[in-house]
Amino acid sequence: MDHLLGIDHLDIDEITQVLDRAQHYAAALKKGEWDKERLKNKIILTLFYENSTRTLTSFDIAAKRLGADVVVWHPKISSVHKNESFSDTIDTLAEMEPDAIVIRHSEFGAPGFVAGRVRCPVINGGDSWREHPTQAFLDALTMIQEKKTLEGLNVAICGDIAHSRVANSNMLLLDKMGAQVNIIAPESLMPDKLPIGSAKKFTSLEDGIKGCDVVMMLRIQKERMESSLIPDMAAYHNEFGLTHEKLKHAKSDAIVMHPGPMNRGVEIDDDVADDPKRSMIKRQVANGIPARMAVLDLLVGD
Ligand code: CP
Repeated sequence: MDHLLGIDHLDIDEITQVLDRAQHYAAALKKGEWDKERLKNKIILTLFYENSTRTLTSFDIAAKRLGADVVVWHPKISSVHKNESFSDTIDTLAEMEPDAIVIRHSEFGAPGFVAGRVRCPVINGGDSWREHPTQAFLDALTMIQEKKTLEGLNVAICGDIAHSRVANSNMLLLDKMGAQVNIIAPESLMPDKLPIGSAKKFTSLEDGIKGCDVVMMLRIQKERMESSLIPDMAAYHNEFGLTHEKLKHAKSDAIVMHPGPMNRGVEIDDDVADDPKRSMIKRQVANGIPARMAVLDLLVGD
């Protein structure tokens, strides 16, 4: 791997390599024993054109846990506000020779554009509704920790599929690794074409999660959609919001996931989100560190 632009272009061996390294770092972090100078003298530049709590902070911590220095570039205090173009901004930053760039951008394919202009690895921290590959890695790590393997797992992904880069990257990764994916959404948020042919489509939450090992709920992305797509949030919650009652349709030991941030009371009820036995939402956040350490190690380490 020269860059991590998405799951789409990765093969099973490359995905396995990242997940094995992520499992290694998850165990090492628990024991407090890992190579804390693995990325010593490396500089990781983060360019987030869109807001983030989890991804930006966990890349920062992951890089520092490996001994790298992190430079956080922020659009609000940059020369973007003096009308500097995106390509001039990237060319300018490339001349400063960072050892890796992590980018989040609202434009489809922006990380690939950057990768074509710089001389270091580029990592996609989420681009438009296309891909969010490190989220898929931390989600897969969480599933492996709980269910041992992805092979043969039944995973339901429910919510705003039309606007979700998380759904796309998860579908691609899970399909390549031998899991079966059910996609659940109202007609207005269900794309005609999904990135994998094997996914089964459902418009009923109860039907879609039947017999599933994992129920992944997604945020309604109000900022990316016209209000007409979901005119009534209370009605959406009645049909597609995950409650303990609806969760009974999944396997009795099914785990609940959500990439965050959550719209509590819309796609998920508080008592499901905060259920210490079923909800993996906090674990997903914690797993962002070893998953991103793995990616940085493999792409930036000598
Ligand atoms: N899951 C996720 O990408 O969260 P942030 O937007 O907070 O990074």
